[in-house]
Amino acid sequence: MIAREVLVLDTAGLSLEQLQPLSRESLNFVPARSVEEAARLFRSRHFSVALVVFDGEPESGLRAIESLVSGPASAEWIALIEPRALQSRDFRTFILRAFADYHTLPIDPQRLAVTIGHCIGKASLRQELESGKPESTGKFHIGGRSPVMQLLFQKMEKVIGSDAPVLIGGETGTGKELVAHAIHQHSARAGGPLVVVNCGAIPATLIQSELFGHEKSAFTGATQRKIGRIEAASGGVLFLDEIGDLPLDMQVSLLRVLQERTISRVGATQCIPVDFRVIAATHIDLNEAVAQGRFREDLYFRLNVLSLTVPALRERGDDIVLLAESLFTQFAARHGNGNARGLSRDALDALMRHDWPGNVRELINRIQRAVVMSENRLVSPADLGLDVARRSITTLTLDDARNSFERDLLETRLRANGNKVSQTARQLGVSRVTLYRMINKLNIALDH
Ligand SMILES: Nc1ncnc2c1ncn2[C@@H]1O[C@H](COP(=O)(O)OP(=O)(O)OP(=O)(O)O)[C@@H](O)[C@H]1O
Ligand SMILES: [Mg+2]
Repeated sequence: MIAREVLVLDTAGLSLEQLQPLSRESLNFVPARSVEEAARLFRSRHFSVALVVFDGEPESGLRAIESLVSGPASAEWIALIEPRALQSRDFRTFILRAFADYHTLPIDPQRLAVTIGHCIGKASLRQELESGKPESTGKFHIGGRSPVMQLLFQKMEKVIGSDAPVLIGGETGTGKELVAHAIHQHSARAGGPLVVVNCGAIPATLIQSELFGHEKSAFTGATQRKIGRIEAASGGVLFLDEIGDLPLDMQVSLLRVLQERTISRVGATQCIPVDFRVIAATHIDLNEAVAQGRFREDLYFRLNVLSLTVPALRERGDDIVLLAESLFTQFAARHGNGNARGLSRDALDALMRHDWPGNVRELINRIQRAVVMSENRLVSPADLGLDVARRSITTLTLDDARNSFERDLLETRLRANGNKVSQTARQLGVSRVTLYRMINKLNIALDH
């Protein structure tokens, strides 16, 4: 889907009026008054063509414009230039290197329309070729074409060439675990194991022997020798998920392992060398956890050598629609009731408007539910559970609207956290007791 939106970077505000006649060609010009504003627009929307207007003083800000033009976004760039600027040889070289074409001011609407049309054609051809590749989700098999995701993939390229520790941040449900798997699969350790430890899910009393293993008779109930997860990760990758939940005493032990590269099983006297790469993930802000004394700073520095942040779904612009459509096709083929053939325009609009607190996991859940439940030929916002706000504005009382919002939020967060009440309460900034009270009041089922 190529939007016919054309970005116009025009710091002096010279051109918008001159571009007016071109609006008839169903081109929508989106103005940006600074390079920063243009960069911001590129992060959230798709432009296949962008115009940059240069006044007579071309030297100023060229470096910033060059980094914008040569950035990851796959737009075609056209320069609109005050003729006297072309007297500078450096400027002419810059234009030749960075732009697909240029026009001199004042604008000749007919000629510019042809150039823009040509560039849109080229951009759509390129996009078609890219989406037609057998691995349309790219090398890492992670869906996403938005600039923020392209940036993540570029960083992952660097991370897979190294063996240093990686810390993956990002909100719940954004795909941190998916990223960890992809790094393992594409790194030199792909032939070794990937051992996943969910630091929040193992009871504090068991975590020591889970991580380090134990010898036979190390403690009551230790009837056999057990190899711990760290030892099991030898030759491969140890993925420490929800590292922020690791108890403080285990943080000390983990730091020692990372420094000394040896472990000893519980009840053992000798040390065993271990060779693993550590990848840790967290949805909390570890910096803040360090400041609050909940996370050791020395361990944080050890883990945060290479850091990646998986963007929230709401920051991925058109990716939301691309992901939704591809998930719809997958689920409809497997679990569809034969009713729904696609997503309606209203549904797509609702997806773009929604805030996605549960990110990709929430999107998967909503699409899955819609595929099963929809009675319509095209999925509606209601099938996706996304028509609450609109209804509340016209018919609901304030109390109903508040309850409905709270129910939606709680259900989404609980689902995203696998119905873990303590974790959800922490994220929402309320006590467990309060959350349980709300769950009861709102009649939320905690089924799995
Ligand atoms: N770009 C994507 N394309 C398709 N599926 C995705 C994408 N990103 C994530 N997913 C899917 O979304 C779900 C959530 O991803 P994942 O478990 O990796 O998130 P997470 O960040 O680890 O979440 P949490 O913080 O809750 O542990 C998974 O089913 C995953 O396969
Ligand atoms: Mg996870």
